[in-house]
Amino acid sequence: MSIIELNGIYTAYEGGDKPVIKDLSLKVGRGEFVVIGGPNGAGKTTLLESINGLVKITHGSAKVCGLDVRRSGPDIRKRAGYVIQNFYFDPFTPFTVEQVVMMGRYGRLGFFNRPSEEDHRAVDRAIRLAGIEDLVNKPIGTLSGGQQQKAMIAHNLAKEPDLMLLDEPFSNLDFNSREYFKGVFEDIVRKGTPVVMVSHAFDGLPDTGVRLVVMEGGRIISDMACRVGEVEGVIRKACAVC
Ligand SMILES: Nc1ncnc2c1ncn2[C@@H]1O[C@H](COP(=O)(O)OP(=O)(O)OP(=O)(O)O)[C@@H](O)[C@H]1O
Ligand SMILES: [Mg+2]
Repeated sequence: MSIIELNGIYTAYEGGDKPVIKDLSLKVGRGEFVVIGGPNGAGKTTLLESINGLVKITHGSAKVCGLDVRRSGPDIRKRAGYVIQNFYFDPFTPFTVEQVVMMGRYGRLGFFNRPSEEDHRAVDRAIRLAGIEDLVNKPIGTLSGGQQQKAMIAHNLAKEPDLMLLDEPFSNLDFNSREYFKGVFEDIVRKGTPVVMVSHAFDGLPDTGVRLVVMEGGRIISDMACRVGEVEGVIRKACAVC
């Protein structure tokens, strides 16, 4: 069964007169590592937001985790991890790193219920996996950009999602952290959870290769299995404005 099943979708932002995603079809199954490449403005972020129901799908059909995206956006967002591209926490945001990671459990837990032992275990595991044990009691807004990014990855790991969407997850990470998280994401895929990652940082891709989807102008212009060393060349060859 496909985890993502998009058939001829068009999506538009509120108030936008033209569709951003145009006639796009994509199927992703368990255990796939999909990298989305393509130039700025190609629609990569919009594609991720179409998958988890954050932008309006005007035409076509879209199913994710067996649910209709148009009707079940909130339920899909409980089951899909999503590390967003641009985030900013005000220094006075009143949550610690540990609380932000625990919020990753709220989809399972419900906002007003007390976390169970299992929730605490998942949070501890995610914090350890993201290597941010020393930051747990700090207010999220007082962290550096890279530290915040690790906390957001931990938040999504704590979710134990059925699908992981990553939008430039390496943008603030130093070289060693990129190498490390590359292994973390590979592990997720090895356990069967598909990863769909938008990235311009090709040193963060798994050595075993990826399925590379190239977008331009809101459409998929290339979709093929690719070794890591080939990724940049394939993107350059596929699109006119890269
Ligand atoms: N909230 C929004 N409202 C209206 N239009 C938007 C919005 N967000 C993005 N767009 C438009 O949708 C198009 C695709 O944007 P998107 O952010 O998906 O590109 P991208 O491929 O992720 O680019 P980048 O590599 O710069 O992150 C752009 O033309 C952009 O102007
Ligand atoms: Mg983007």
